[in-house]
Amino acid sequence: MGTRRSYTQRSMASVPVAPSLHLLREVASVLEEGLLALDADDIVLLASGSELALLGVGDASVGMSLRSAHTDYRLLRLVQAARDSDAVQEREIDSAGHEMVVRAVPVHGEDVATLVMLRDESRVRQLERVRRDFISNVSHELRTPVTAVRLMAETLEAGALDDREAASDFVKRIALEATHMAQMLEELLELSAIESGLRPLAFERVPLTALLTMVDRLRPLAEAKQQTITVRVASGTPAIYGDASRLGQVLRNLLHNAIKFTPPGGHIAIEAAPGDAGTAVLRCIDDGVGIAPEDQGRIFERFWKADSSRQRDGEGSGLGLAIVRHVVEGHGGRVSVDSTPRRGSTFTVILPAALD
Ligand SMILES: Nc1ncnc2c1ncn2[C@@H]1O[C@H](COP(=O)(O)OP(=O)(O)OP(=O)(O)O)[C@@H](O)[C@H]1O
Ligand SMILES: [Mg+2]
Repeated sequence: MGTRRSYTQRSMASVPVAPSLHLLREVASVLEEGLLALDADDIVLLASGSELALLGVGDASVGMSLRSAHTDYRLLRLVQAARDSDAVQEREIDSAGHEMVVRAVPVHGEDVATLVMLRDESRVRQLERVRRDFISNVSHELRTPVTAVRLMAETLEAGALDDREAASDFVKRIALEATHMAQMLEELLELSAIESGLRPLAFERVPLTALLTMVDRLRPLAEAKQQTITVRVASGTPAIYGDASRLGQVLRNLLHNAIKFTPPGGHIAIEAAPGDAGTAVLRCIDDGVGIAPEDQGRIFERFWKADSSRQRDGEGSGLGLAIVRHVVEGHGGRVSVDSTPRRGSTFTVILPAALD
């Protein structure tokens, strides 16, 4: 409230007489907000800021009545209310996906009778939504394992401890749930460290051989599902300029998904080849379950999982690909997916090549 009052006082103090319009124009040119000045008959004296176009007001409106056919009725009502009450009026107006806070201020200048300030809050609101979703996603992801652990502990306490076989089964499951939670926390910390820039990328020349050791680390996982992994490096593939351990993580997350979302007996290929203009291209190809076309745009979002993977409790929290995208983009690279349901998926990563 305090800011509003001081704002009103300031504007009234600065627009009392004829030069006010000239002054307003200068102020408008440095303001981040949209600004509209009207005379007592609602003739537009000044219209500044692209946001105004969302309410049907633009350069062409200057010299014309605000009550022309194009003006958004909500803006008209607000101006009218400010005039009638001789008090500042404020409201939110949504238009074309933009969330704007619009404020009409009656002033007592010689020419200007009403000032309208307009602020596009869409980005701030979007960030607020992301934060809220984030918290609710984290809580949701933790609720299932926490509930499971609690129920199993209660069952043990209620007597299952005496049944050696059941007890050992419960204890194993508790440990498994704890492992999932620990993994999720690790991924979350990793994401936030990357985003906050706390752990900057350590750029160096990374030969592909160093990167491809990650394949051998995951091979036992694939073998347990009778899957084969082949590696093909095209001749002339350059080394990568990047952070070796982060790039290893990219490959691990992609490969881990390929193994997870490919049925037993399936086949996975890791390919590397020279790319355009000083880049190297890595591909992770599987012949697994694939991703529906409508989902392909969302898989890189945090916590996003396909409905089918959502049903499999405790199998990952949907953070792996968000980390992949962050790391790759942090390298100035790009990651994309090409997939056909029931046929398989190909993830393509383009990274800067090291200068030899
Ligand atoms: N190779 C793939 N084949 C089919 N679907 C995939 C593949 N990779 C990812 N997906 C889909 O994208 C979703 C998001 O993947 P992501 O790696 O971010 O999460 P996750 O594997 O479910 O969990 P986490 O990686 O955190 O353990 C997966 O849940 C799955 O639905
Ligand atoms: Mg994953």
